[in-house]
Amino acid sequence: MCGIVGYIGYRDTNPILIEGLKRLEYRGYDSAGVCILVDGETVIVKDKGKVSHLESLLDAKNVHSTIGIGHTRWATHGEPNFVNAHPHSNEEGDIVLIHNGIIENFNTLKKSLITQGYTFKSDTDTEVLAHLIDVFMKKGNKLFRAVRLALSEVEGTYGLAVISSREPNILIAARKGSPLVIGVGDKENFIASDVSALITHTKQVVYLDDGEVAEITAEGFRVKTVQDEEISKEVTEVFLTLEELDRGGYDTFMLKEIMEQPESVLNSLRGRLLLDEGTSKLGGLENVLDKLVTAKRFILTACGTSWHSGLVAEYMFEQYLRIPTEVEYASEFRYRNPIIEPGDAIFFISQSGETADTLAAMHEAKRKGALCIGICNGVGSSIARDSDSGVYIHAGPEIGVASTKAFTSQLTVFALITLLLARKKDMSLADGKIIVEEFKLLPGKIKKILELRSRIEEIAEVFKDTPNFLYLGRGYNFPVALEGALKLKEISYIHAEGYPAAEMKHGPIALVDKNMPVVFIAPKDSTYDKINSNIQEIKARKGIVIAIATEDDDRIDTIADYSIKIPGTIRMLTPILSVIPLQLLAYFIAKKKGLNVDQPRNLAKSVTVE
Ligand code: AGP
Repeated sequence: MCGIVGYIGYRDTNPILIEGLKRLEYRGYDSAGVCILVDGETVIVKDKGKVSHLESLLDAKNVHSTIGIGHTRWATHGEPNFVNAHPHSNEEGDIVLIHNGIIENFNTLKKSLITQGYTFKSDTDTEVLAHLIDVFMKKGNKLFRAVRLALSEVEGTYGLAVISSREPNILIAARKGSPLVIGVGDKENFIASDVSALITHTKQVVYLDDGEVAEITAEGFRVKTVQDEEISKEVTEVFLTLEELDRGGYDTFMLKEIMEQPESVLNSLRGRLLLDEGTSKLGGLENVLDKLVTAKRFILTACGTSWHSGLVAEYMFEQYLRIPTEVEYASEFRYRNPIIEPGDAIFFISQSGETADTLAAMHEAKRKGALCIGICNGVGSSIARDSDSGVYIHAGPEIGVASTKAFTSQLTVFALITLLLARKKDMSLADGKIIVEEFKLLPGKIKKILELRSRIEEIAEVFKDTPNFLYLGRGYNFPVALEGALKLKEISYIHAEGYPAAEMKHGPIALVDKNMPVVFIAPKDSTYDKINSNIQEIKARKGIVIAIATEDDDRIDTIADYSIKIPGTIRMLTPILSVIPLQLLAYFIAKKKGLNVDQPRNLAKSVTVE
């Protein structure tokens, strides 16, 4: 979603802002802009379109500075165009800001500002902030205080960066519900909405918390709350390398991330398996282990792909722990006054750790006194920091908008949690050891599936122009069907639906004819015979069957039109394997259609607005 970068120091700010914005492109955006201070004046360069376009506009202007802010916008209020692109300014143009998030009371604020004589250029909610800060500066306040006074009137969310030619040596940053981090350098400082935008310059960072505002100079920074309370902040080190952020020789981040899964799953497992004890070790859960073992109910909440991993976890928890488990969309959970009782533990699953709905759901659950567990990839992310306890999935940075390796790592972590709790409950040592052995085999099995790349590419060639797809699975593989359909629709724009295979007879079968491809996730497990009958039902209606089946399954070849064979494993771990051919199928179809798989239209990597 929208991205923020900022710089104050002694170097030319333009390449720093452009590089930072390029690093944030993966989040999805529709316009980009910067503001720098030149000879006591603010200079704004912005437009609809890509950062590379902004770069050429900035080069053509040939202006330079040692302080500036940059933004990539993903439209929420007002269409993507030049006027609505950030930065925005007050009428005199001497207070300039960029903003992520949504000002919910912007209509009320706008009306009041109009009655005070202010005029508006854009359709954005952000512009009210520039005028509001102007109101407080004109009353004699310095920029730092004026921003805090303005923010005290604001309802909604913001990651904010402000500069002003009236005070050319400071940069103001603020955060509420939208991430913002300060990068601490030597005689220079940075801000960004995501550490990836600043780690080429510094690894020393300070994460702002909600309601905090920072005044940053080239020499240092200080932080206050919106209510004027001085806050002392800890500088922490980020352990991310540039290689981890680059494409590593692959055409796209998505393919790189799919191909990385043997290592990313291994990283999720690293140091967490105890063979002799037939269990796992998860440091982040140690302080809440007793509560989890005796929990009366688990609730798992998330959005998109992370929600699908929650659905798989529901099967794991209920099979091995016999703890009633509910899975809910975070966007629904947060608004329906959920019933939370003593003995409930709630898991918040998020790759980014910044998804607005999931974060708000967690804050709502905390208000109600629930035990909140974060399952995140983003280290130091808002969900990771605000939860009571949690487990990092350690998948490494995921840049492609379509989530792939984060999904398999989320499943791996849920299986580790299941093993840990099951061994505390009634699972035997022998059974625990079998599961640990199966975990160890996963990276090698994933490698084998990835070797089927060209076979899957051939199948993609056949179906690249198909307008519709059905994905069907049962039990553990029903959520995999949902995930396969989501992957295909989000990057190839082909309409695809996932269903529990038996549910097909209650409606979707009406869609089946000789043109309808139906992807069955049909590994050899307890539902195998049932799903075979479902395949027959599709064949009887001349549908085209693509089956994801187990390696030694010859029977499937006699009924399916295409089959992709994956190694066998225990039921709980099967989705980690069965989803991979579906990721590749979606990937190759989208590539063959000539689409931008890393940044599909209308989508953002991190959805930080509700
Ligand atoms: C997945 O491919 C999506 N792009 C999307 O559904 C994503 O999973 C969702 O927005 C949740 O994101 P999170 O895991 O970062 O919270």
